[in-house]
Amino acid sequence: MTPLNIVILAAGKGTRMHSDQPKVLHALAGRPLVQHVLDCASLLKPQQICVVYGHGGEAVPNAMQQYAAKFVIQEPQLGTGHAVQQALPHLADDSQTLVLYGDVPLIQHSTLHQMQQAGAGLVLLTVNLPNPAGYGRIVRDAQGDVQRIVEEKDATPEQREIREVNTGIMLIPTRQLRVWLGRLQNNNSQGEYYLTDIVGMAVQQGIAVHTVQPANEWEIHGVNSKSQLVMLERTWQLVEASRLLVQGVTLADHARIDVRGKLSCGRDVEIDVGCIFEGDVTLGNNVRVGAYSVLRNATIAAGTDIAPYSHIDSSEVGADCHIGPYARLRPGTKLHDGVHIGNFVEVKNSEIAASSKANHLSYIGDSTVGSRVNIGAGTITCNYDGANKHRTIIEDDVFIGSDTQLVAPVTVKRGATIGAGSTITREVPEGELTLSRSKQLTVSGWKRPQKTKK
Ligand code: UD1
Ligand code: CA
Repeated sequence: MTPLNIVILAAGKGTRMHSDQPKVLHALAGRPLVQHVLDCASLLKPQQICVVYGHGGEAVPNAMQQYAAKFVIQEPQLGTGHAVQQALPHLADDSQTLVLYGDVPLIQHSTLHQMQQAGAGLVLLTVNLPNPAGYGRIVRDAQGDVQRIVEEKDATPEQREIREVNTGIMLIPTRQLRVWLGRLQNNNSQGEYYLTDIVGMAVQQGIAVHTVQPANEWEIHGVNSKSQLVMLERTWQLVEASRLLVQGVTLADHARIDVRGKLSCGRDVEIDVGCIFEGDVTLGNNVRVGAYSVLRNATIAAGTDIAPYSHIDSSEVGADCHIGPYARLRPGTKLHDGVHIGNFVEVKNSEIAASSKANHLSYIGDSTVGSRVNIGAGTITCNYDGANKHRTIIEDDVFIGSDTQLVAPVTVKRGATIGAGSTITREVPEGELTLSRSKQLTVSGWKRPQKTKK
């Protein structure tokens, strides 16, 4: 097969975004627009990807440096044909060049694959729009063969009636592309070098021009303003929601879920309104996620119930756990099966073994907690001495009374009980009751102070 080269045009200023950030770095579904395009482009296993950037200094190459792409600057910006010209030194003559756009983020691999199958010659991605305003029109002859593309600003009133428009995405034999770009002229209403003029050149040379249409119209939508960005975001979120529904996930409201990454669900998963999923999130069978929870890079095993307003980041939760409401699992948390983490409990960089509970108002940081441990309300691991972090080890079957401070580094041995209100600074022995508080006393005859009269 002919090798594939991909050029991503991303030099436009994005004036209508009214932002200091280059347009293509604004996020859709949690990723910069141009990153969606780069991810889709990478799926095609091209020989070369070349990103043409312009505004915002080195912001675009810097933000996308994880991709093995060539970044070429286009300065000044003299049109889409001129933009592709900047990439020519990086393109191989024996390849096909696919032109994509950094601000058209939702183009799908399947559509591009269809273009690759369309046959030799030039392949245009076109779409029929009820309102074609603003787009270049596809001009066909009486036989229905493509003749050329005419930009709206250069079109006759009759041509403006044409509903079939140029999405801008095209696949071009690179050897010819090089010749055609060299012949472009800017004697048009905008004084630009139009990439679209190569279509007429192909026709004149008798080179076949094929058209392909995308499976979904949203694939070809570009982003020029914040309102177009939010509309495309909502469109995409509905696509994600229907994908989940098709798989059998129960959503309380398909319009009130945000997937900013990859969400994988088992069977009989239920997700209430307002939840946000970021990065890679996996929910096992029968997992329930309560309203307004935020899960990022998390794995939740089967049967676990996450009550509303819980926040789980870079954590692993076992099966049949109860989390929340109002729980916070910070990076490095690993909960084994049957663990309960209740309201206003924060866990960080800690492993908690099966069936242990911390149900109220606690901080568990840098800790290793055994099985069947009960951590009373208000218990805090004092893991930070102002300079360094230290670990707390709580062995199996420990009972920690409410409002205990565990000053790390410290170990609580198996089966120990700690009396409420204790400050623990030394190892707690196995199986005993340990407490560190002064004895209760009553001062008889003591009077409360009285308010002094003025
Ligand atoms: C272009 C097409 C038009 C098509 C439409 C689809 C041309 C001449 N016209 O028109 O047929 O219907 O897209 O949206 O190609 N860009 C650069 N450098 C430049 C100019 C543009 O990188 O010098 C990038 C822009 O950032 C943008 C894209 O190319 O992502 C399209 O440019 P734009 O000026 O918006 O083209 P349109 O006039 O919309
Ligand atoms: Ca445009």
